[in-house]
Amino acid sequence: MTNPTPILQAKQVSKFFGGLTALDKVDFEVYPGEVVALLGDNGAGKSTLIKCVSGVYRPEHGEIFFNDQNITHHSPASIRDLGIETIYQDLALAENLDVGGNVFLGKEKKRNFLGLLRVLDDDFMRSEAAQVLERLDIHIPSLKQKLVNLSGGQRQAVAIARALYWNAKLLIMDEPTAALGVPEQRKVLALVRSLREHNIPVIIISHTMQDVLEVADRMVVMRRGRVVANLPRSQADAEILVKHIVGAAEVA
Ligand SMILES: Nc1ncnc2c1ncn2[C@@H]1O[C@H](COP(=O)(O)OP(=O)(O)O)[C@@H](O)[C@H]1O
Ligand SMILES: [Mg+2]
Repeated sequence: MTNPTPILQAKQVSKFFGGLTALDKVDFEVYPGEVVALLGDNGAGKSTLIKCVSGVYRPEHGEIFFNDQNITHHSPASIRDLGIETIYQDLALAENLDVGGNVFLGKEKKRNFLGLLRVLDDDFMRSEAAQVLERLDIHIPSLKQKLVNLSGGQRQAVAIARALYWNAKLLIMDEPTAALGVPEQRKVLALVRSLREHNIPVIIISHTMQDVLEVADRMVVMRRGRVVANLPRSQADAEILVKHIVGAAEVA
């Protein structure tokens, strides 16, 4: 676990919204192959930190490095090109396309039709999608199904499959299980483990302590824009984490 070179490193990152300090000199690292949970109450700064990493926000202070490249002022598109994929709660999938169409969303594969027209190559996209789903051990009965007909867990799986297909080197998931039923939550957690087996590091934001304790190798707790705890799994339990989350750890 003590790998000296982080794949992602945020150094002293601060982000302000008007007079509000959303991030206050945050140091945060992710090492190769680890699942890092980001915890904290509503408004603690978790999503803001993630958005600074994914290029949605630009921090006012501090720097962010990905594999030693300074990405602090990169655009979201260039950060995705480097292999940092973020799956937000709304997933950003297309409801009326099938699974293949969603894996290739925005990067659609076309083929020649009658030697003239360029049309979507649905068969190619579906078969590529099938392969990546297979790698993740995900079973979706028919890949011709439109997303609108899939369950929450299956959609999450499609979003993860898309990230993996496009060679994600770091996957960030903001509250992936929030809107799911229990069996589907389990499936998403299994997917996170599967990503770790593929040596793809994951940052997972979750309110559900049980999720986090099950999948994360390390837990980082934020409170009011600061990192207040950084614990390996072996040193973390629900009680300790809750104390850090609510700010009562010092009186423990
Ligand atoms: N776009 C924004 N404009 C103004 N304030 C924001 C914006 N995004 C987040 N904030 C504020 O920054 C703080 C951290 O929010 P956020 O990162 O979303 O917390 P979390 O994800 O931990 O719930 C909160 O006080 C929130 O209201
Ligand atoms: Mg949030």
